[in-house]
Amino acid sequence: MCGIVGYVGPRSAVDLLIPGLARLEYRGYDSAGVAFQDGDGIAVVKQAGRIADLERSLGKVEVRASNTGIGHTRWATHGVPNTINAHPHRDCTGTVIVVHNGIIENWLALKSELEGRGHEFASDTDTEVVAHLIEEMADLPLAEAVREVMRQAEGALALGVMRSTDPLLLVGGRRGSPLVVGIGDGENFLGSDIPAFLEHTRKMAVIEDDRVVAITPDSVEITDLAGNVVETTERFIEWDLEAAEKGGYATFMEKEIYEQPKAISDTLRGRINQSGMVSLEELGHLDERLREIDKVFVVACGTSFHAAMMAKYAIERWTRLPVEIDIASEFRYRDPVLDRRSLVIGISQSGETLDTLAAVRYARAQRSLLLAVSNVVDSALAREADAVLYTRAGPEIGVAATKTFTTQLVALQLIGLHLARVRGSIDEGSIMNLIKGVRQLPELVQQTLDRAGEIDAIAAKFADTRDVFFLGRSGDFPVAMEGALKLKEIAYTRAEGYAAGEMKHGPIALIDENVLVVGVATDSRVRAKTLSNLQEMKARGAMIVVLAEEGTEAEMAGVADHILTVPASPDLIGTVTAVVPLQLLAYQIATVKGLDVDKPRNLAKTVTVE
Ligand code: F6R
Repeated sequence: MCGIVGYVGPRSAVDLLIPGLARLEYRGYDSAGVAFQDGDGIAVVKQAGRIADLERSLGKVEVRASNTGIGHTRWATHGVPNTINAHPHRDCTGTVIVVHNGIIENWLALKSELEGRGHEFASDTDTEVVAHLIEEMADLPLAEAVREVMRQAEGALALGVMRSTDPLLLVGGRRGSPLVVGIGDGENFLGSDIPAFLEHTRKMAVIEDDRVVAITPDSVEITDLAGNVVETTERFIEWDLEAAEKGGYATFMEKEIYEQPKAISDTLRGRINQSGMVSLEELGHLDERLREIDKVFVVACGTSFHAAMMAKYAIERWTRLPVEIDIASEFRYRDPVLDRRSLVIGISQSGETLDTLAAVRYARAQRSLLLAVSNVVDSALAREADAVLYTRAGPEIGVAATKTFTTQLVALQLIGLHLARVRGSIDEGSIMNLIKGVRQLPELVQQTLDRAGEIDAIAAKFADTRDVFFLGRSGDFPVAMEGALKLKEIAYTRAEGYAAGEMKHGPIALIDENVLVVGVATDSRVRAKTLSNLQEMKARGAMIVVLAEEGTEAEMAGVADHILTVPASPDLIGTVTAVVPLQLLAYQIATVKGLDVDKPRNLAKTVTVE
């Protein structure tokens, strides 16, 4: 996720680009840059850090009034977030300037062809190939050159392109990543999202997938990839600025819950090959060592620890390697037995959680192999590790983790299947079947979100309930733990996640008619046993909500006061879908209670103290 803004018109482009970028900072904020026509050429100013840092850099250069410009705020996916990798990127001659949001899957192949033809690359990004490809098409109109790039590039892209030989022209292209045009009076705008230009115009047009748009001060022309002109449908924006930043959702957390299908697709992008087999370029160089591993440790905190719980089940089931999981703050103090043949996986969306960092540094000292799962490119955890799998969820503004959690689950499933393939622990056909299930997740999560309305009545009924237990077994256990944590942290309800079979060993003493039990019973291998445990709770008076797989409602009817369903998935893969109704339940209860879900009390998004 990154933010693009573009301007063409009579005003000074830079003066409009900077506030536009600041409005898009929620889309990414590790580096930023602008490009603007400057005499016969195009000037580029870019900077690692936030928009404020870019403004300071701009203050040090002479910015001549310019009527055409593009800007970008970055959330790194390829290449560390430094100034060189910040957008805009240029071709060899500095004539073509490009900003991009998305992932070009075949960029390595394109780059090596371009290098073979003598192009020199300045950055480690996938984006830069676009500038060099357009450089080779100097004799074509810019819009046609962008169409040709879109025909060659695979993956998700929203592009903003300018060329010094075409002053007063901006060209955008879109496939998979958002792009909108702001239509002004004698001026026009390009943006990843409406806040980029909402201060200046309320008229806009959405660019559809596989379309290219050429804008000048007085015209907006949209074409398909064959060059046919497509009719532009103008819309009027009713939202105020705050609503626009949240994409029309009431809060960032709600928006992030609804972004999960896209975030999961981004996490999967380029990691499953044409034959439907897992293919993790990031881990390829470690395959030899991965074959020698005899034990796996997974360390993390909070929600990320719940992802570790799922990883234990998945990796043990698929690789038959023993897996230990640790809350990172406890890891060092139990003197774990690690050596060269241990694989240690650190999970942290921020990549900065001090306890997790301390745990992996301890493992590093024992010469273990370190793998990181993080959402932040070049985070401290990523730098510590031998290899990193980034979750590509985009920035998460709401303090409670949602899309970063489901993408962690998916990344860990890919790691488990990669290990299984490399070690030959299950046959390729079975791996491909599981991958088929993983691939369906964006669609199944979307179907689950489409039924969010079913949760409203349950949330209203139980908003004042003081004590809630979330119970599950096997793959449903981490889901129950996460459901309880979400409810605690945003709704301030006392909630416990528990292994369903463990209740009878003590906690059942707390059960009476004032307690709500949410039973997670989506894992077909243990469903009958979970149901028996829920019967035990019902017999003691508890109110029961059951989360079950579609098609199993009849089995649940005897025990459940309310049933929520999710579409069926292979065991463990379905943890991703199952957690979504519980995110929504916590969200709705907090909303009924009138709480600030984006900034729950006493919590911080990144925890850098032990
Ligand atoms: C819960 C939550 C926290 C984090 C924990 C670890 O919604 O966000 O429990 O999961 O602080 O954070 P990371 O993943 O950044 O290490």
